[in-house]
Order: sequence, then structure tokens, then C-alpha cells
Amino acid sequence: MRQSRKIDHINFALANVDKQAAGFADVKLLHCSLPELNWHDIDTSCQFLSKKLSAPILINAMTGGHPAVTEINRSLAKAARQAGIAIALGSQRAALEDISVANTFKVVREENPDGVVIANLSAGCSLAEAQRAVEMVQADAIQLHVNVPQELAMPEGDREFKGILANVAEIANQLPVPVIIKEVGFGMSRETVSQIYQTGVRIVDISGSGGTNFIAIEEGRHNDCVTDYAGDISDWGIPTVISIIEAMETDLPLVVVASGGVRSSHDIAKSLALGARVAGISRPLLQTLMDKGEEQLNQHVRQLIIGLRKIMLMCGAANVAELANVPAIITGQTSQWLRVRGIDINKYAQK
Ligand code: FNR
Repeated sequence: MRQSRKIDHINFALANVDKQAAGFADVKLLHCSLPELNWHDIDTSCQFLSKKLSAPILINAMTGGHPAVTEINRSLAKAARQAGIAIALGSQRAALEDISVANTFKVVREENPDGVVIANLSAGCSLAEAQRAVEMVQADAIQLHVNVPQELAMPEGDREFKGILANVAEIANQLPVPVIIKEVGFGMSRETVSQIYQTGVRIVDISGSGGTNFIAIEEGRHNDCVTDYAGDISDWGIPTVISIIEAMETDLPLVVVASGGVRSSHDIAKSLALGARVAGISRPLLQTLMDKGEEQLNQHVRQLIIGLRKIMLMCGAANVAELANVPAIITGQTSQWLRVRGIDINKYAQK
């Protein structure tokens, strides 16, 4: 059941299109006519999880746990290694239950022995399970995902969510590697991010709405189930750009990973200018791999990095620290949301 769900998620995710806005269209980075920089002065590298990345990009959690996806994970891991970017695994729950599928995850570390590899389990897992998931791939960190809307959209999904914060606190305090609390496309508010901080966790992946939509995916998988009278909730969640800013507005010393609808170099640059340290991309990379193959996947990642250099040069930012200081002008529905939440958006435009 769990294993066949892996294949369903890939098929339904690939059929899913971005219907909601992640908010990037509401953000403009300030153009710089006189950057006083050459192309080769631009340094896209960054530090993440105590290692150097060539660019602040993460191939975010997707798959593993079924023999048929081993080659997908191999290709994703090779792309991450070749480009020098980070990669996260899909949920390793299946391999904890059936050790025979552990290879579908281990292949990522085999192909990428020195890079940043991030384990993944639900935030409801036990400390011992988190330890096993980390050891399985000698992970540099573990993402513990929170996905209430997805669970509720699955007839077989969890219905019990009490005690998650205490569980996360125990894991974060005992595990030898950092814990990242990660959404799966529904975003985070500053209240949520503050609660996470209280557990001792120092990295959040806000994975906001506007990209892959797990309510739509699960409803597609269970189209036999009668939709209820709750109304259309396929637009549920907090868009990615708003989630980044909500996280920044906590003013807590957290590393923010931006994901959910990050589609271009421009989106990556905007995420960093708003305060994110790294940007995660899932479905588009899987799509390129499945439709066009491994070489095109590598090309896709290369183009993201070249595009980021161009945007940094046009902003006059020689490195990612300078990119974080580029004024970001927030308009449209995103600015309306932030205003009614009492957030001062002028400070993002007037750095
Ligand atoms: C996912 N995602 C995901 N996240 C997670 O924490 N554990 C998981 O096992 C999975 N599985 C998974 C499978 C597939 C096929 C996709 C496309 C995605 C969610 C993913 O990491 C990310 O948060 C969202 O997909 C939003 O990013 P994109 O796809 O809009 O770039």
C-alpha cells in the first residue's frame, strides 16, 4: 500500500499543474544599472549544513521506497552532485518497514558521497526511527515533514496530530544532525515558525502553496471518494512568498528554506532577497527527468544556476550575502495579506 502510493504520487504529481500563485509575481527585485561587477565576479556559492554548495538550491524531498524509483533517485543524486547542490530524500518510512527497499534511498548517498543529503520522515516518527533514517544515508540533516491537509485528504491518512511539538523537541535535542521542519506545500505562519523554534529546531522549510498541491493529488488518487460539503479547499495554504516573510518576521535566528512553486532562477533570487538561505525545487526537476532524461535534468539545474548569476549581476550582488540585501518590492495580493497581518513591507523595499 505504502509502496504503491509512491508511484501514485509521482504519476499524479506529474499530472498536477501549478494552479495557485506562490506570490513570486508580486515581488520585484531592484534593478541596478551600474553593478561595477564582471560576470566572473559573481559567486553563487553558499554554506548549508556545514558544507559548501555551488548555489543555494535544494532538490527537495520526493521519492524512494519502491524498486521502480531507484533510478529516479540515482539520476536526481547525480544531478545534485554534478551541480554541487543539496538533495533531500522522499519519506523513508517504507524502508523502515521493509529493509529490502532501503537501497532505493541509499543510492542517493552512493552517487553523492560528499554532498549535502537530507533524510526525510514524518514529524510523528520516533527518535529511533529518525536515527535509523539518518544512518541509512549518512544524512547531513533530517527533514521532518508536517502535512496535515495531505493526511486529511487521504482516507488512509493520519488523524492524530497531538504531541507533535514535544516529539520534535525530543528528536531535535537528541539527534546528532540538525532537524529541519518541513511543510509539503501548505506554507507556514509566523505563529507556526515560532512554535517550531521553541522545540530547539533552527531550520524550517516553509514549503508554501503555489506549486505542487497535495490536496489535489490525493483527491485525484481517491476520485471515488465523495467530496464533502466543506467547499473547495484546493487553494488551502499560505503562499510561498508570504510564508518566507512570515518566517522572517519572527525575527528568530532561523535558517529558512523556501520551497513550493519555486520555478526559476528569478524565483530563487527573490526568495533569497526576502531572507531565505536556500530554495528547494521538487516537481519541475522530476518532470524534466521523466520527460526528457538525465542529461536534460543536468542542463535544467545548470540553467537555474546560470540564470541566478545573471540576476545577481543585474541586482549588483556579487554573492549571496549581497543578494540578501537587494531591495525587494512587494505588491499585489501578497502586500495586501502582509498589511492585514500587520507586517511592514517597506523594510523589504528600503534596505
Ligand atoms: C513530494 N513532497 C514530499 N515532501 C516530503 O517532505 N516528503 C515526501 O515524501 C514527499 N514526497 C513528494 C513526492 C512528489 C512526487 C512530489 C512532487 C513532492 C513535497 C515536496 O518536497 C515539496 O514540498 C512540494 O512538492 C512543493 O514543491 P514543488 O513541487 O512545488 O517544487
